[in-house]
Amino acid sequence: MKKILIIGASGFIGSHLIEQGLAQGKFQFIGVDTYSTKIQPWLNQKNFEFFQSDYQDLNELDEIIQKTDLVLSLAALCNPAQYNTVPLQVIESNYTQPMKLVEKCHRYNTPIIHLSTSEIYGRTLGSYVSQDSQSNDENSSQASHPINPELVEDETPYLLGPIHEQRWSYASAKQLLERSIYAYGDEGLPWIIVRPFNFIGSRLDYMPGIDGEGTPRVIANFMKSLLSGEDLQLVDGGSARRCFTDIQDAVDAIFQLIENFDECQGEVYNLGAPGNEVSIQDLALQMRSIFRKTDHWQQHCAPVGCEDAIDSHIVKVSSEEFYGKGYADSDRRIPSIEKIQSKINWTPQVSLETSLTQTIHWFIERYG
Ligand code: UGA
Repeated sequence: MKKILIIGASGFIGSHLIEQGLAQGKFQFIGVDTYSTKIQPWLNQKNFEFFQSDYQDLNELDEIIQKTDLVLSLAALCNPAQYNTVPLQVIESNYTQPMKLVEKCHRYNTPIIHLSTSEIYGRTLGSYVSQDSQSNDENSSQASHPINPELVEDETPYLLGPIHEQRWSYASAKQLLERSIYAYGDEGLPWIIVRPFNFIGSRLDYMPGIDGEGTPRVIANFMKSLLSGEDLQLVDGGSARRCFTDIQDAVDAIFQLIENFDECQGEVYNLGAPGNEVSIQDLALQMRSIFRKTDHWQQHCAPVGCEDAIDSHIVKVSSEEFYGKGYADSDRRIPSIEKIQSKINWTPQVSLETSLTQTIHWFIERYG
């Protein structure tokens, strides 16, 4: 049975890997995290040992890394609301600290799977090129230079904004870590890098005011608005586009990478659902429409004429107003998944509609 150390075990992705990995009975997990809220049901299960600690402070870390078959590195500050407000913490958590983990894996020759980010690609080309020249339409005057919107691991260049746009503190830190892992690979470290494209599902982020503060990522933030009848806010009009990937599809792929580590190692893989692309404006409309079909909305929010009826409007807001100075955005992130599909037997199965419906129901059950 493979023994796996998960750094960041109680996060959204870690909790799903532990839940399903234990159920499959194929893995033995050692988890490390500063909190355990999301993994409570599995804490006392056979094949799972948990250390509640910052991994930097864990005395046993070296010993554990020497004894495990694989390290899964998941811990990170990954909330865009923090990139321009606490950039030093973002760099610390996404480069300085995990770099020490990578060094230890190299020292003990322990394979590592590091979860990086789709944000590596930065603003993406669409920010700099007019819509016309992106068109694949044969009648377009510039159709001879179409931009392939798909992001390809070993080809697409990274376009980050200037230094004062502190949003890019996160992508820069992640990028330097990827480059360091790659370089350690030349020195013998067995590694895989995964770039997640907006995974969603149960246990995503937190609910502001209940189990966290500030602004979580878009799905959790829209859920907060829907549940409280506040407006859904579209940052800079909501024209940015994302491919949301169901956590079940993500977890299936990660387990396959673990099981086929030897054949897959030494590569960077996009992990996302290209078919689930949506603009943030359409996401808001779709989430509100799904929410309005739920029993929760019927019972608590809908009754026309009822004084307590609550409902959310969709409004536009500038990014500076919403996130503060130094925010910038990726315009469009579509993963090429050719590479991962050439190595493992995997195709994303869950549609955006299904994934959003399940996620919305989970949020209602947990916070409604
Ligand atoms: C974030 C992280 O930076 C990535 O590292 C991470 O991989 C990614 O999430 C992910 O979930 O995989 P981003 O997609 O920008 O990147 O995160 P969100 O905060 O969910 O924002 C998505 C879009 O929605 C952005 O255009 C943002 O401006 C917009 N937004 C967000 C709104 O319009 N309204 C909101 O209330 C919140």
